[in-house]
Amino acid sequence: MKDVCILAFESSCDETSVAIIRNGHDVISNVVLTQMDTHANYGGVVPEIASRMHIENITMVIEEALTKAGLDMEDIDAIAVTYGPGLIGSLLIGLQAAKTLAYIYDKPLVPVHHIAGHIYANNLEKPMEFPLMALVISGGHTELVYMKEDYDFKVVGSTLDDAVGEAYDKVARVLDLPYPGGPKVDKLAHIGQDTYKLPLPLDDDTYNFSFSGLKSAVINLKHNEAQKGNEIVKENLACSFQNKVIEILTKKTIKALKEYNCDNLIIAGGVSANAGIRDEFKKICALNKINLTIPNLKYCTDNAAMIGAAGYYAYKLGRRADLNLNSKANDKLN
Ligand code: KG4
Ligand code: ZN
Repeated sequence: MKDVCILAFESSCDETSVAIIRNGHDVISNVVLTQMDTHANYGGVVPEIASRMHIENITMVIEEALTKAGLDMEDIDAIAVTYGPGLIGSLLIGLQAAKTLAYIYDKPLVPVHHIAGHIYANNLEKPMEFPLMALVISGGHTELVYMKEDYDFKVVGSTLDDAVGEAYDKVARVLDLPYPGGPKVDKLAHIGQDTYKLPLPLDDDTYNFSFSGLKSAVINLKHNEAQKGNEIVKENLACSFQNKVIEILTKKTIKALKEYNCDNLIIAGGVSANAGIRDEFKKICALNKINLTIPNLKYCTDNAAMIGAAGYYAYKLGRRADLNLNSKANDKLN
C-alpha cells in the first residue's frame, strides 16, 4: 500500500506546531514552538499575544518541519489542521497557513478536532485497539469517550464545570506557583503527604466530572488556615488535591470500562503527563486486566504530530474541507 504523508498544523492555544506523519503513526518531524515563557509573565495565556506570536513563528515552523523531514510539498498527500476548539485568534493562524498551502499546492485539506488529535496521540505509541475508552484530561476538557472503531466518538461523560487542567492551574495559583501550574503541583504532590481533608468531587453514578468544588475547597482551606495564622504546607495540600483528582478519575473510568465491557483504555490530553495519574492508572489497569496506553510525554501536551495521526484516519475516511473552513472556539467532538 502506498505511504500517506500528512502535513499537520496545531495552533489552538500557545504552541505553534507543524509535523509530518506517515501512515498515522510514524513521526517524520514534529516541531513545537511553545510560547509558555512569554505567557508565564502574565500568569496565563494572553489570547492576543498568542495569536501575534503564532503569526511571527508559523512560517519558520513550517520550514523547519519540512527541512527536518527532508521532504518538500510534492511529497505531501494531504494537509490536516486543528480547526477547533481553542482560542479563535490562535486557531485562525494555523488554519490560514494550512489553507494557503492546500490552495497553492492543490492538496486535500482535512479538518481535525483538537480532542480527536489528543486521542490519536496514543496511536503514535502503538496501534489503537477497539473498542476503547478514552479518558481525555486537558486544560479545556475532561471527558470519557467510547470508541467502537476509528473516528467513532461517543462522549459518555464530561465535566460540568472546570476541566482537570484548569483546576490544576488554579490550585497552582493558590499555592503561589508560576504558570503553567499543573506540572508544578504534580512535582510538589510527590514530595508531600495526604494530610488535608478535601471532598471527592461528584462521586455519583454518572460519568460526569466536576472540579470547581474541589478547587474551591483548596482555596477555602488556605484562607481558613491563614485566618488562624497558620501557614499551609504546600506539598501536602498539592498531594491531598492530586489524590482526590486521581481517586475520582480512576473510579469513574474503571466503572465506565466495566459497563461498556471494554478492556482497552487510553489516556489523552495535557494532564496525562501527570506522573501521579500515570502511575495510578498503570497500577489499577494491571489489577483489572485493562490494556492501557498513555502517550509519550512529548505527545501529551499540544503538538501537531497528534493532529497528523488523527488526520490520517480522517483522510482515509474521506473527510475533507474546502477553503471556507473556519475555526471554531467550541465544537462537539466529531
Ligand atoms: O492538552 P493541553 O496541552 O492543552 C489543552 O488542550 O488544554 O493541556 C494543558 C493542561 C494545562 O492545564 C497544564 O497545567 C496541564 O495540562 N498539565 C498538567 C501536567 N502537565 C500539563 N497537569 C497536571 N500535571 C502535569 N504534569
Ligand atoms: Zn490540547
